[in-house]
Amino acid sequence: MLEVVGLEAGYGDGRVLFGVELAVGAGEVVTLLGRNGMGKTTTLSTIMGILRAQGGTVRFGGAPIHHLPAYRIARLGLGLVPEGRQIFPNLTVRENLVATAADSEKHGQWTLDTVLDLFPALRERLGSLGALLSGGEQQMLAVGRALMTNPRLLLLDEATEGLAPRIRDEIWRVLARLKAGGQAILLVDKNITPLLRLANRHYILEKGRTVWSGSSAELAAASELQHRYLGV
Ligand SMILES: Nc1ncnc2c1ncn2[C@@H]1O[C@H](COP(=O)(O)OP(=O)(O)OP(=O)(O)O)[C@@H](O)[C@H]1O
Ligand SMILES: [Mg+2]
Repeated sequence: MLEVVGLEAGYGDGRVLFGVELAVGAGEVVTLLGRNGMGKTTTLSTIMGILRAQGGTVRFGGAPIHHLPAYRIARLGLGLVPEGRQIFPNLTVRENLVATAADSEKHGQWTLDTVLDLFPALRERLGSLGALLSGGEQQMLAVGRALMTNPRLLLLDEATEGLAPRIRDEIWRVLARLKAGGQAILLVDKNITPLLRLANRHYILEKGRTVWSGSSAELAAASELQHRYLGV
């Protein structure tokens, strides 16, 4: 479904990615791991067309997308839950959910109603401004907003960061439900234990390069690798 080969990108003259390799198949949950500053967010931004690729290729469904503007990439079916959530603070929960959905609601299972079934807490807050939500509610809203576009591939950047353990667990449960429903997911997170349970495969980034890839069983067994590249 998604194939990233030799991806290079950066900010201005500063190169950050020097050859990222990864792939996500239909229905797969795949993680992108690495310490702070290794290029995980930059990789997701480049896949989404928010940053311009300076080398390499990104293919989605077999077709190159790295030359396309961000709105076209989103329309092809890539939905990002960005680092820091970035919900619209001055829009209500309902407005946040419908703002980016356009007519994609017609094309899949995710509608305002089914998203609210997935996150019942949001149903009670439909009229509240985004800014007034708790961190956990904002994160659920960010996930719900991405689902409203009915993405073929859902990308999440640190979706459990800074949340209370109970809320984290709820996010993990929701992601497991999405996976069971066949949703393909590319996930950046620092909590290895739940990732080992949820994901099929993993990639590790070190200074903008993919240095390792393997299954959950392989990663779980490689404690020296976890220590060296993930600091755990
Ligand atoms: N907007 C920016 N302008 C310039 N440099 C940036 C910008 N964003 C990130 N960088 C640099 O690019 C490198 C990779 O950052 P990136 O945010 O992709 O890392 P990350 O793996 O997502 O880290 P973290 O785990 O802290 O989120 C870092 O050296 C960072 O300082
Ligand atoms: Mg990041």
